[in-house]
Amino acid sequence: MNITVIGGGYVGLVTASCFAYLGHTVRIVEIDTGKADLINQGVPPIYEDKLEEILRQISGKNLSAQSHYEGIEDADIILICVGTPPQDDGSADLRYITGASESIGYALKGSTKYHVITVKSTVPPGTTESVVIPAVMKPLGDISDTVGFCMNPEFLREGRAIDDFLHPDRIVIGGTSQKAIEVVQKAYEKLDAPVITTSLKAAEMIKYTSNAFLATKISFSNEIGNICKKLGIDVYEVMKGVGYDHRINPYFLNAGLGFGGSCFPKDVMALIRLAERYGEEPVLLKSVIEVNEQQPGRIIQLLRTRIGDLKEKKIAVLGLAFKDNTDDVRDSRSIPVISELLEQGAIISAFDPMAADSMKKIFPSLSYYTNAGDALEGADACLVLTEWPEFSKLGSEFARMKNQVIIEGRKILSCSGIEGVCW
Ligand code: UGA
Repeated sequence: MNITVIGGGYVGLVTASCFAYLGHTVRIVEIDTGKADLINQGVPPIYEDKLEEILRQISGKNLSAQSHYEGIEDADIILICVGTPPQDDGSADLRYITGASESIGYALKGSTKYHVITVKSTVPPGTTESVVIPAVMKPLGDISDTVGFCMNPEFLREGRAIDDFLHPDRIVIGGTSQKAIEVVQKAYEKLDAPVITTSLKAAEMIKYTSNAFLATKISFSNEIGNICKKLGIDVYEVMKGVGYDHRINPYFLNAGLGFGGSCFPKDVMALIRLAERYGEEPVLLKSVIEVNEQQPGRIIQLLRTRIGDLKEKKIAVLGLAFKDNTDDVRDSRSIPVISELLEQGAIISAFDPMAADSMKKIFPSLSYYTNAGDALEGADACLVLTEWPEFSKLGSEFARMKNQVIIEGRKILSCSGIEGVCW
């Protein structure tokens, strides 16, 4: 099939690359010419596991990138993968969705081929119907029988996005007609996964609900973890016993510093704002955010009970990324922790296997090291803030600290003498 992907950001690039890998002919429309050039050279503009390998195989063959909309009228499917960043009040900013939809409409003017315009961006329920369809149709007039509309949310985790795309738990397709849904379904026919077909609005809501539910699991585990800490119980022992219940399952029950990244905080807030707009008071969702916001402060409290005043104390921070296997620090829980350490006068030596350069843009004055051992040298305490698997191998490096006070915000270390934020 011919597939055009609007937006060569994280979701767009992974989606386009995977569709090309499955054999489709894929074009990315990315307004940033620098990014488009890199993609055409087979160089991923972002870090994502396995992406470079796949891009090398497909770019210049059945994947290409361009910075304009010309030629997209040959596409069977046009996927909208542009950002929906939060506005000041937390609601989703839809200006890129509107812009992309209008551009698609103009580019398809005069085309007689059947196209399915499909929204993949995370958008509030009702957006495809009330924003995308009118914007696309405006320049097209009443030749609506040549266009169908679908909403096909993504469930890709950063760092594992290629595997998530190629081995999904499910594929959700909401559509205006069976014909439109079938076209999108065909694009995925090589994947072995159940296909759930819904209305447009339900597909949009499935995405928000999935993220909100996963975020709720994390905040729930953190609340239980905070209680366990007071009772002298390891919450990981508790959740292991709980997660064996198939009605609960063992995933996303890891207590710690809470959820960060570009999705959970943003999507839960957008859902809260949406509910409020309709006169609903989303008590539970608000608590999910509240628990999440309080969690980073707990590691600081714990640190103070162990070493007292933080002024002039050297604190080694291991892990800056919002989770392992990424260089992304967006909404990382390490940001509030570092801010508070600095506020209290601590001196920070930081190490992250991948995210130091990203964090330098936020905290340029920290001392960044290229390995954990050097960051730990002479430290009064160490805080572990990201679940990098390689941290589990650390041992003798801690001997370089002045005081061996080691507090984990993510349960990952395997050496002895460690305290956890809620275990
Ligand atoms: C999340 C969802 O998992 C994806 O399904 C979804 O497609 C994506 O958002 C999105 O909306 O685009 P992502 O943000 O990449 O993916 O990362 P996750 O692996 O879900 O982790 C999010 C945060 O939760 C991280 O800070 C992680 O450390 C934290 N977390 C995760 C916990 O604190 N405990 C857990 O048990 C699991």
